[in-house]
Amino acid sequence: MNPVASPQLNIPRCNGVNLAIFASGNGSNFAALVKAVKEKKIKAKLIVLVSDKPEAFVVKRAQKAKIAVILVKREDFASRADFEAAIIQRLKNYKIDLIALAGFMRMLSPGFVKLYRNRIINIHPSLLPAFKGAHAIKDALDAKVAFTGVTVHFVDSKMDHGPAILQKQIKIKRTDTLNSLEKRIHALEHKLYPQAIKIIS
Ligand code: GRF
Repeated sequence: MNPVASPQLNIPRCNGVNLAIFASGNGSNFAALVKAVKEKKIKAKLIVLVSDKPEAFVVKRAQKAKIAVILVKREDFASRADFEAAIIQRLKNYKIDLIALAGFMRMLSPGFVKLYRNRIINIHPSLLPAFKGAHAIKDALDAKVAFTGVTVHFVDSKMDHGPAILQKQIKIKRTDTLNSLEKRIHALEHKLYPQAIKIIS
C-alpha cells in the first residue's frame, strides 16, 4: 500500500471539515475523534454518527457527547442498495465533507464509494495489505510476525483497500497475548486517526 501525498483530495481545507463517523461497535476510535475535535487537535466538526447497530456502545457515546445519530439497520431493508439509499438520504440533511469509518462492519458498495469519492477513510488494525478482515490483530499474532500495526487509508470498493494516508508499526513481543497486543494497537489507533485527518483536512 503506497502512502499518497493527497493530490486526489477535494476536501475543503481552510475552515475544517464536517465529519461523519460510521461505526458498529464499541466506539473507542469515535471517542478519540470526539476528544481530538474538542481539544482542537483537528480542524473538524463532528456532525453525525451513522450506525447499523442501535445497541452498540458507540451509540451511547454519541448520545452522551450530544452528537446526532443516524440509525439504519440493514435488516430493515430488502437490499444493500436500499440500505445505502436510506443513509445517503439522511446524510443529505448535513453538509458532510468526510466520512471516517471506525469499526463499521459493512462493506460500502462501489456506488456509495463513488458518491463520496476520496472522502471516505478507514482505520484498520494491521499494516495493510497484510491481514485484511475482521480479525487482523489475532491473525498477525497467530502468524508470529515480528511487526504489525495500524493503517489509515482512503476507501475504495475493495475490502481494507485504497491509498494509505498513515501507517505505523508496532513490535509484537514474545510475551504478547491477544489482549495485550489489542491494547497497544487501540492506543496507537486513537493517536493515528486524528493525525491522519489532520493530514488531509
Ligand atoms: C478498530 O480496531 C478499527 O481499526 C477496526 O475496528 C475497530 C473498532 O474499534 N476497523 P472501536 O469500536 O473504535 O473501539
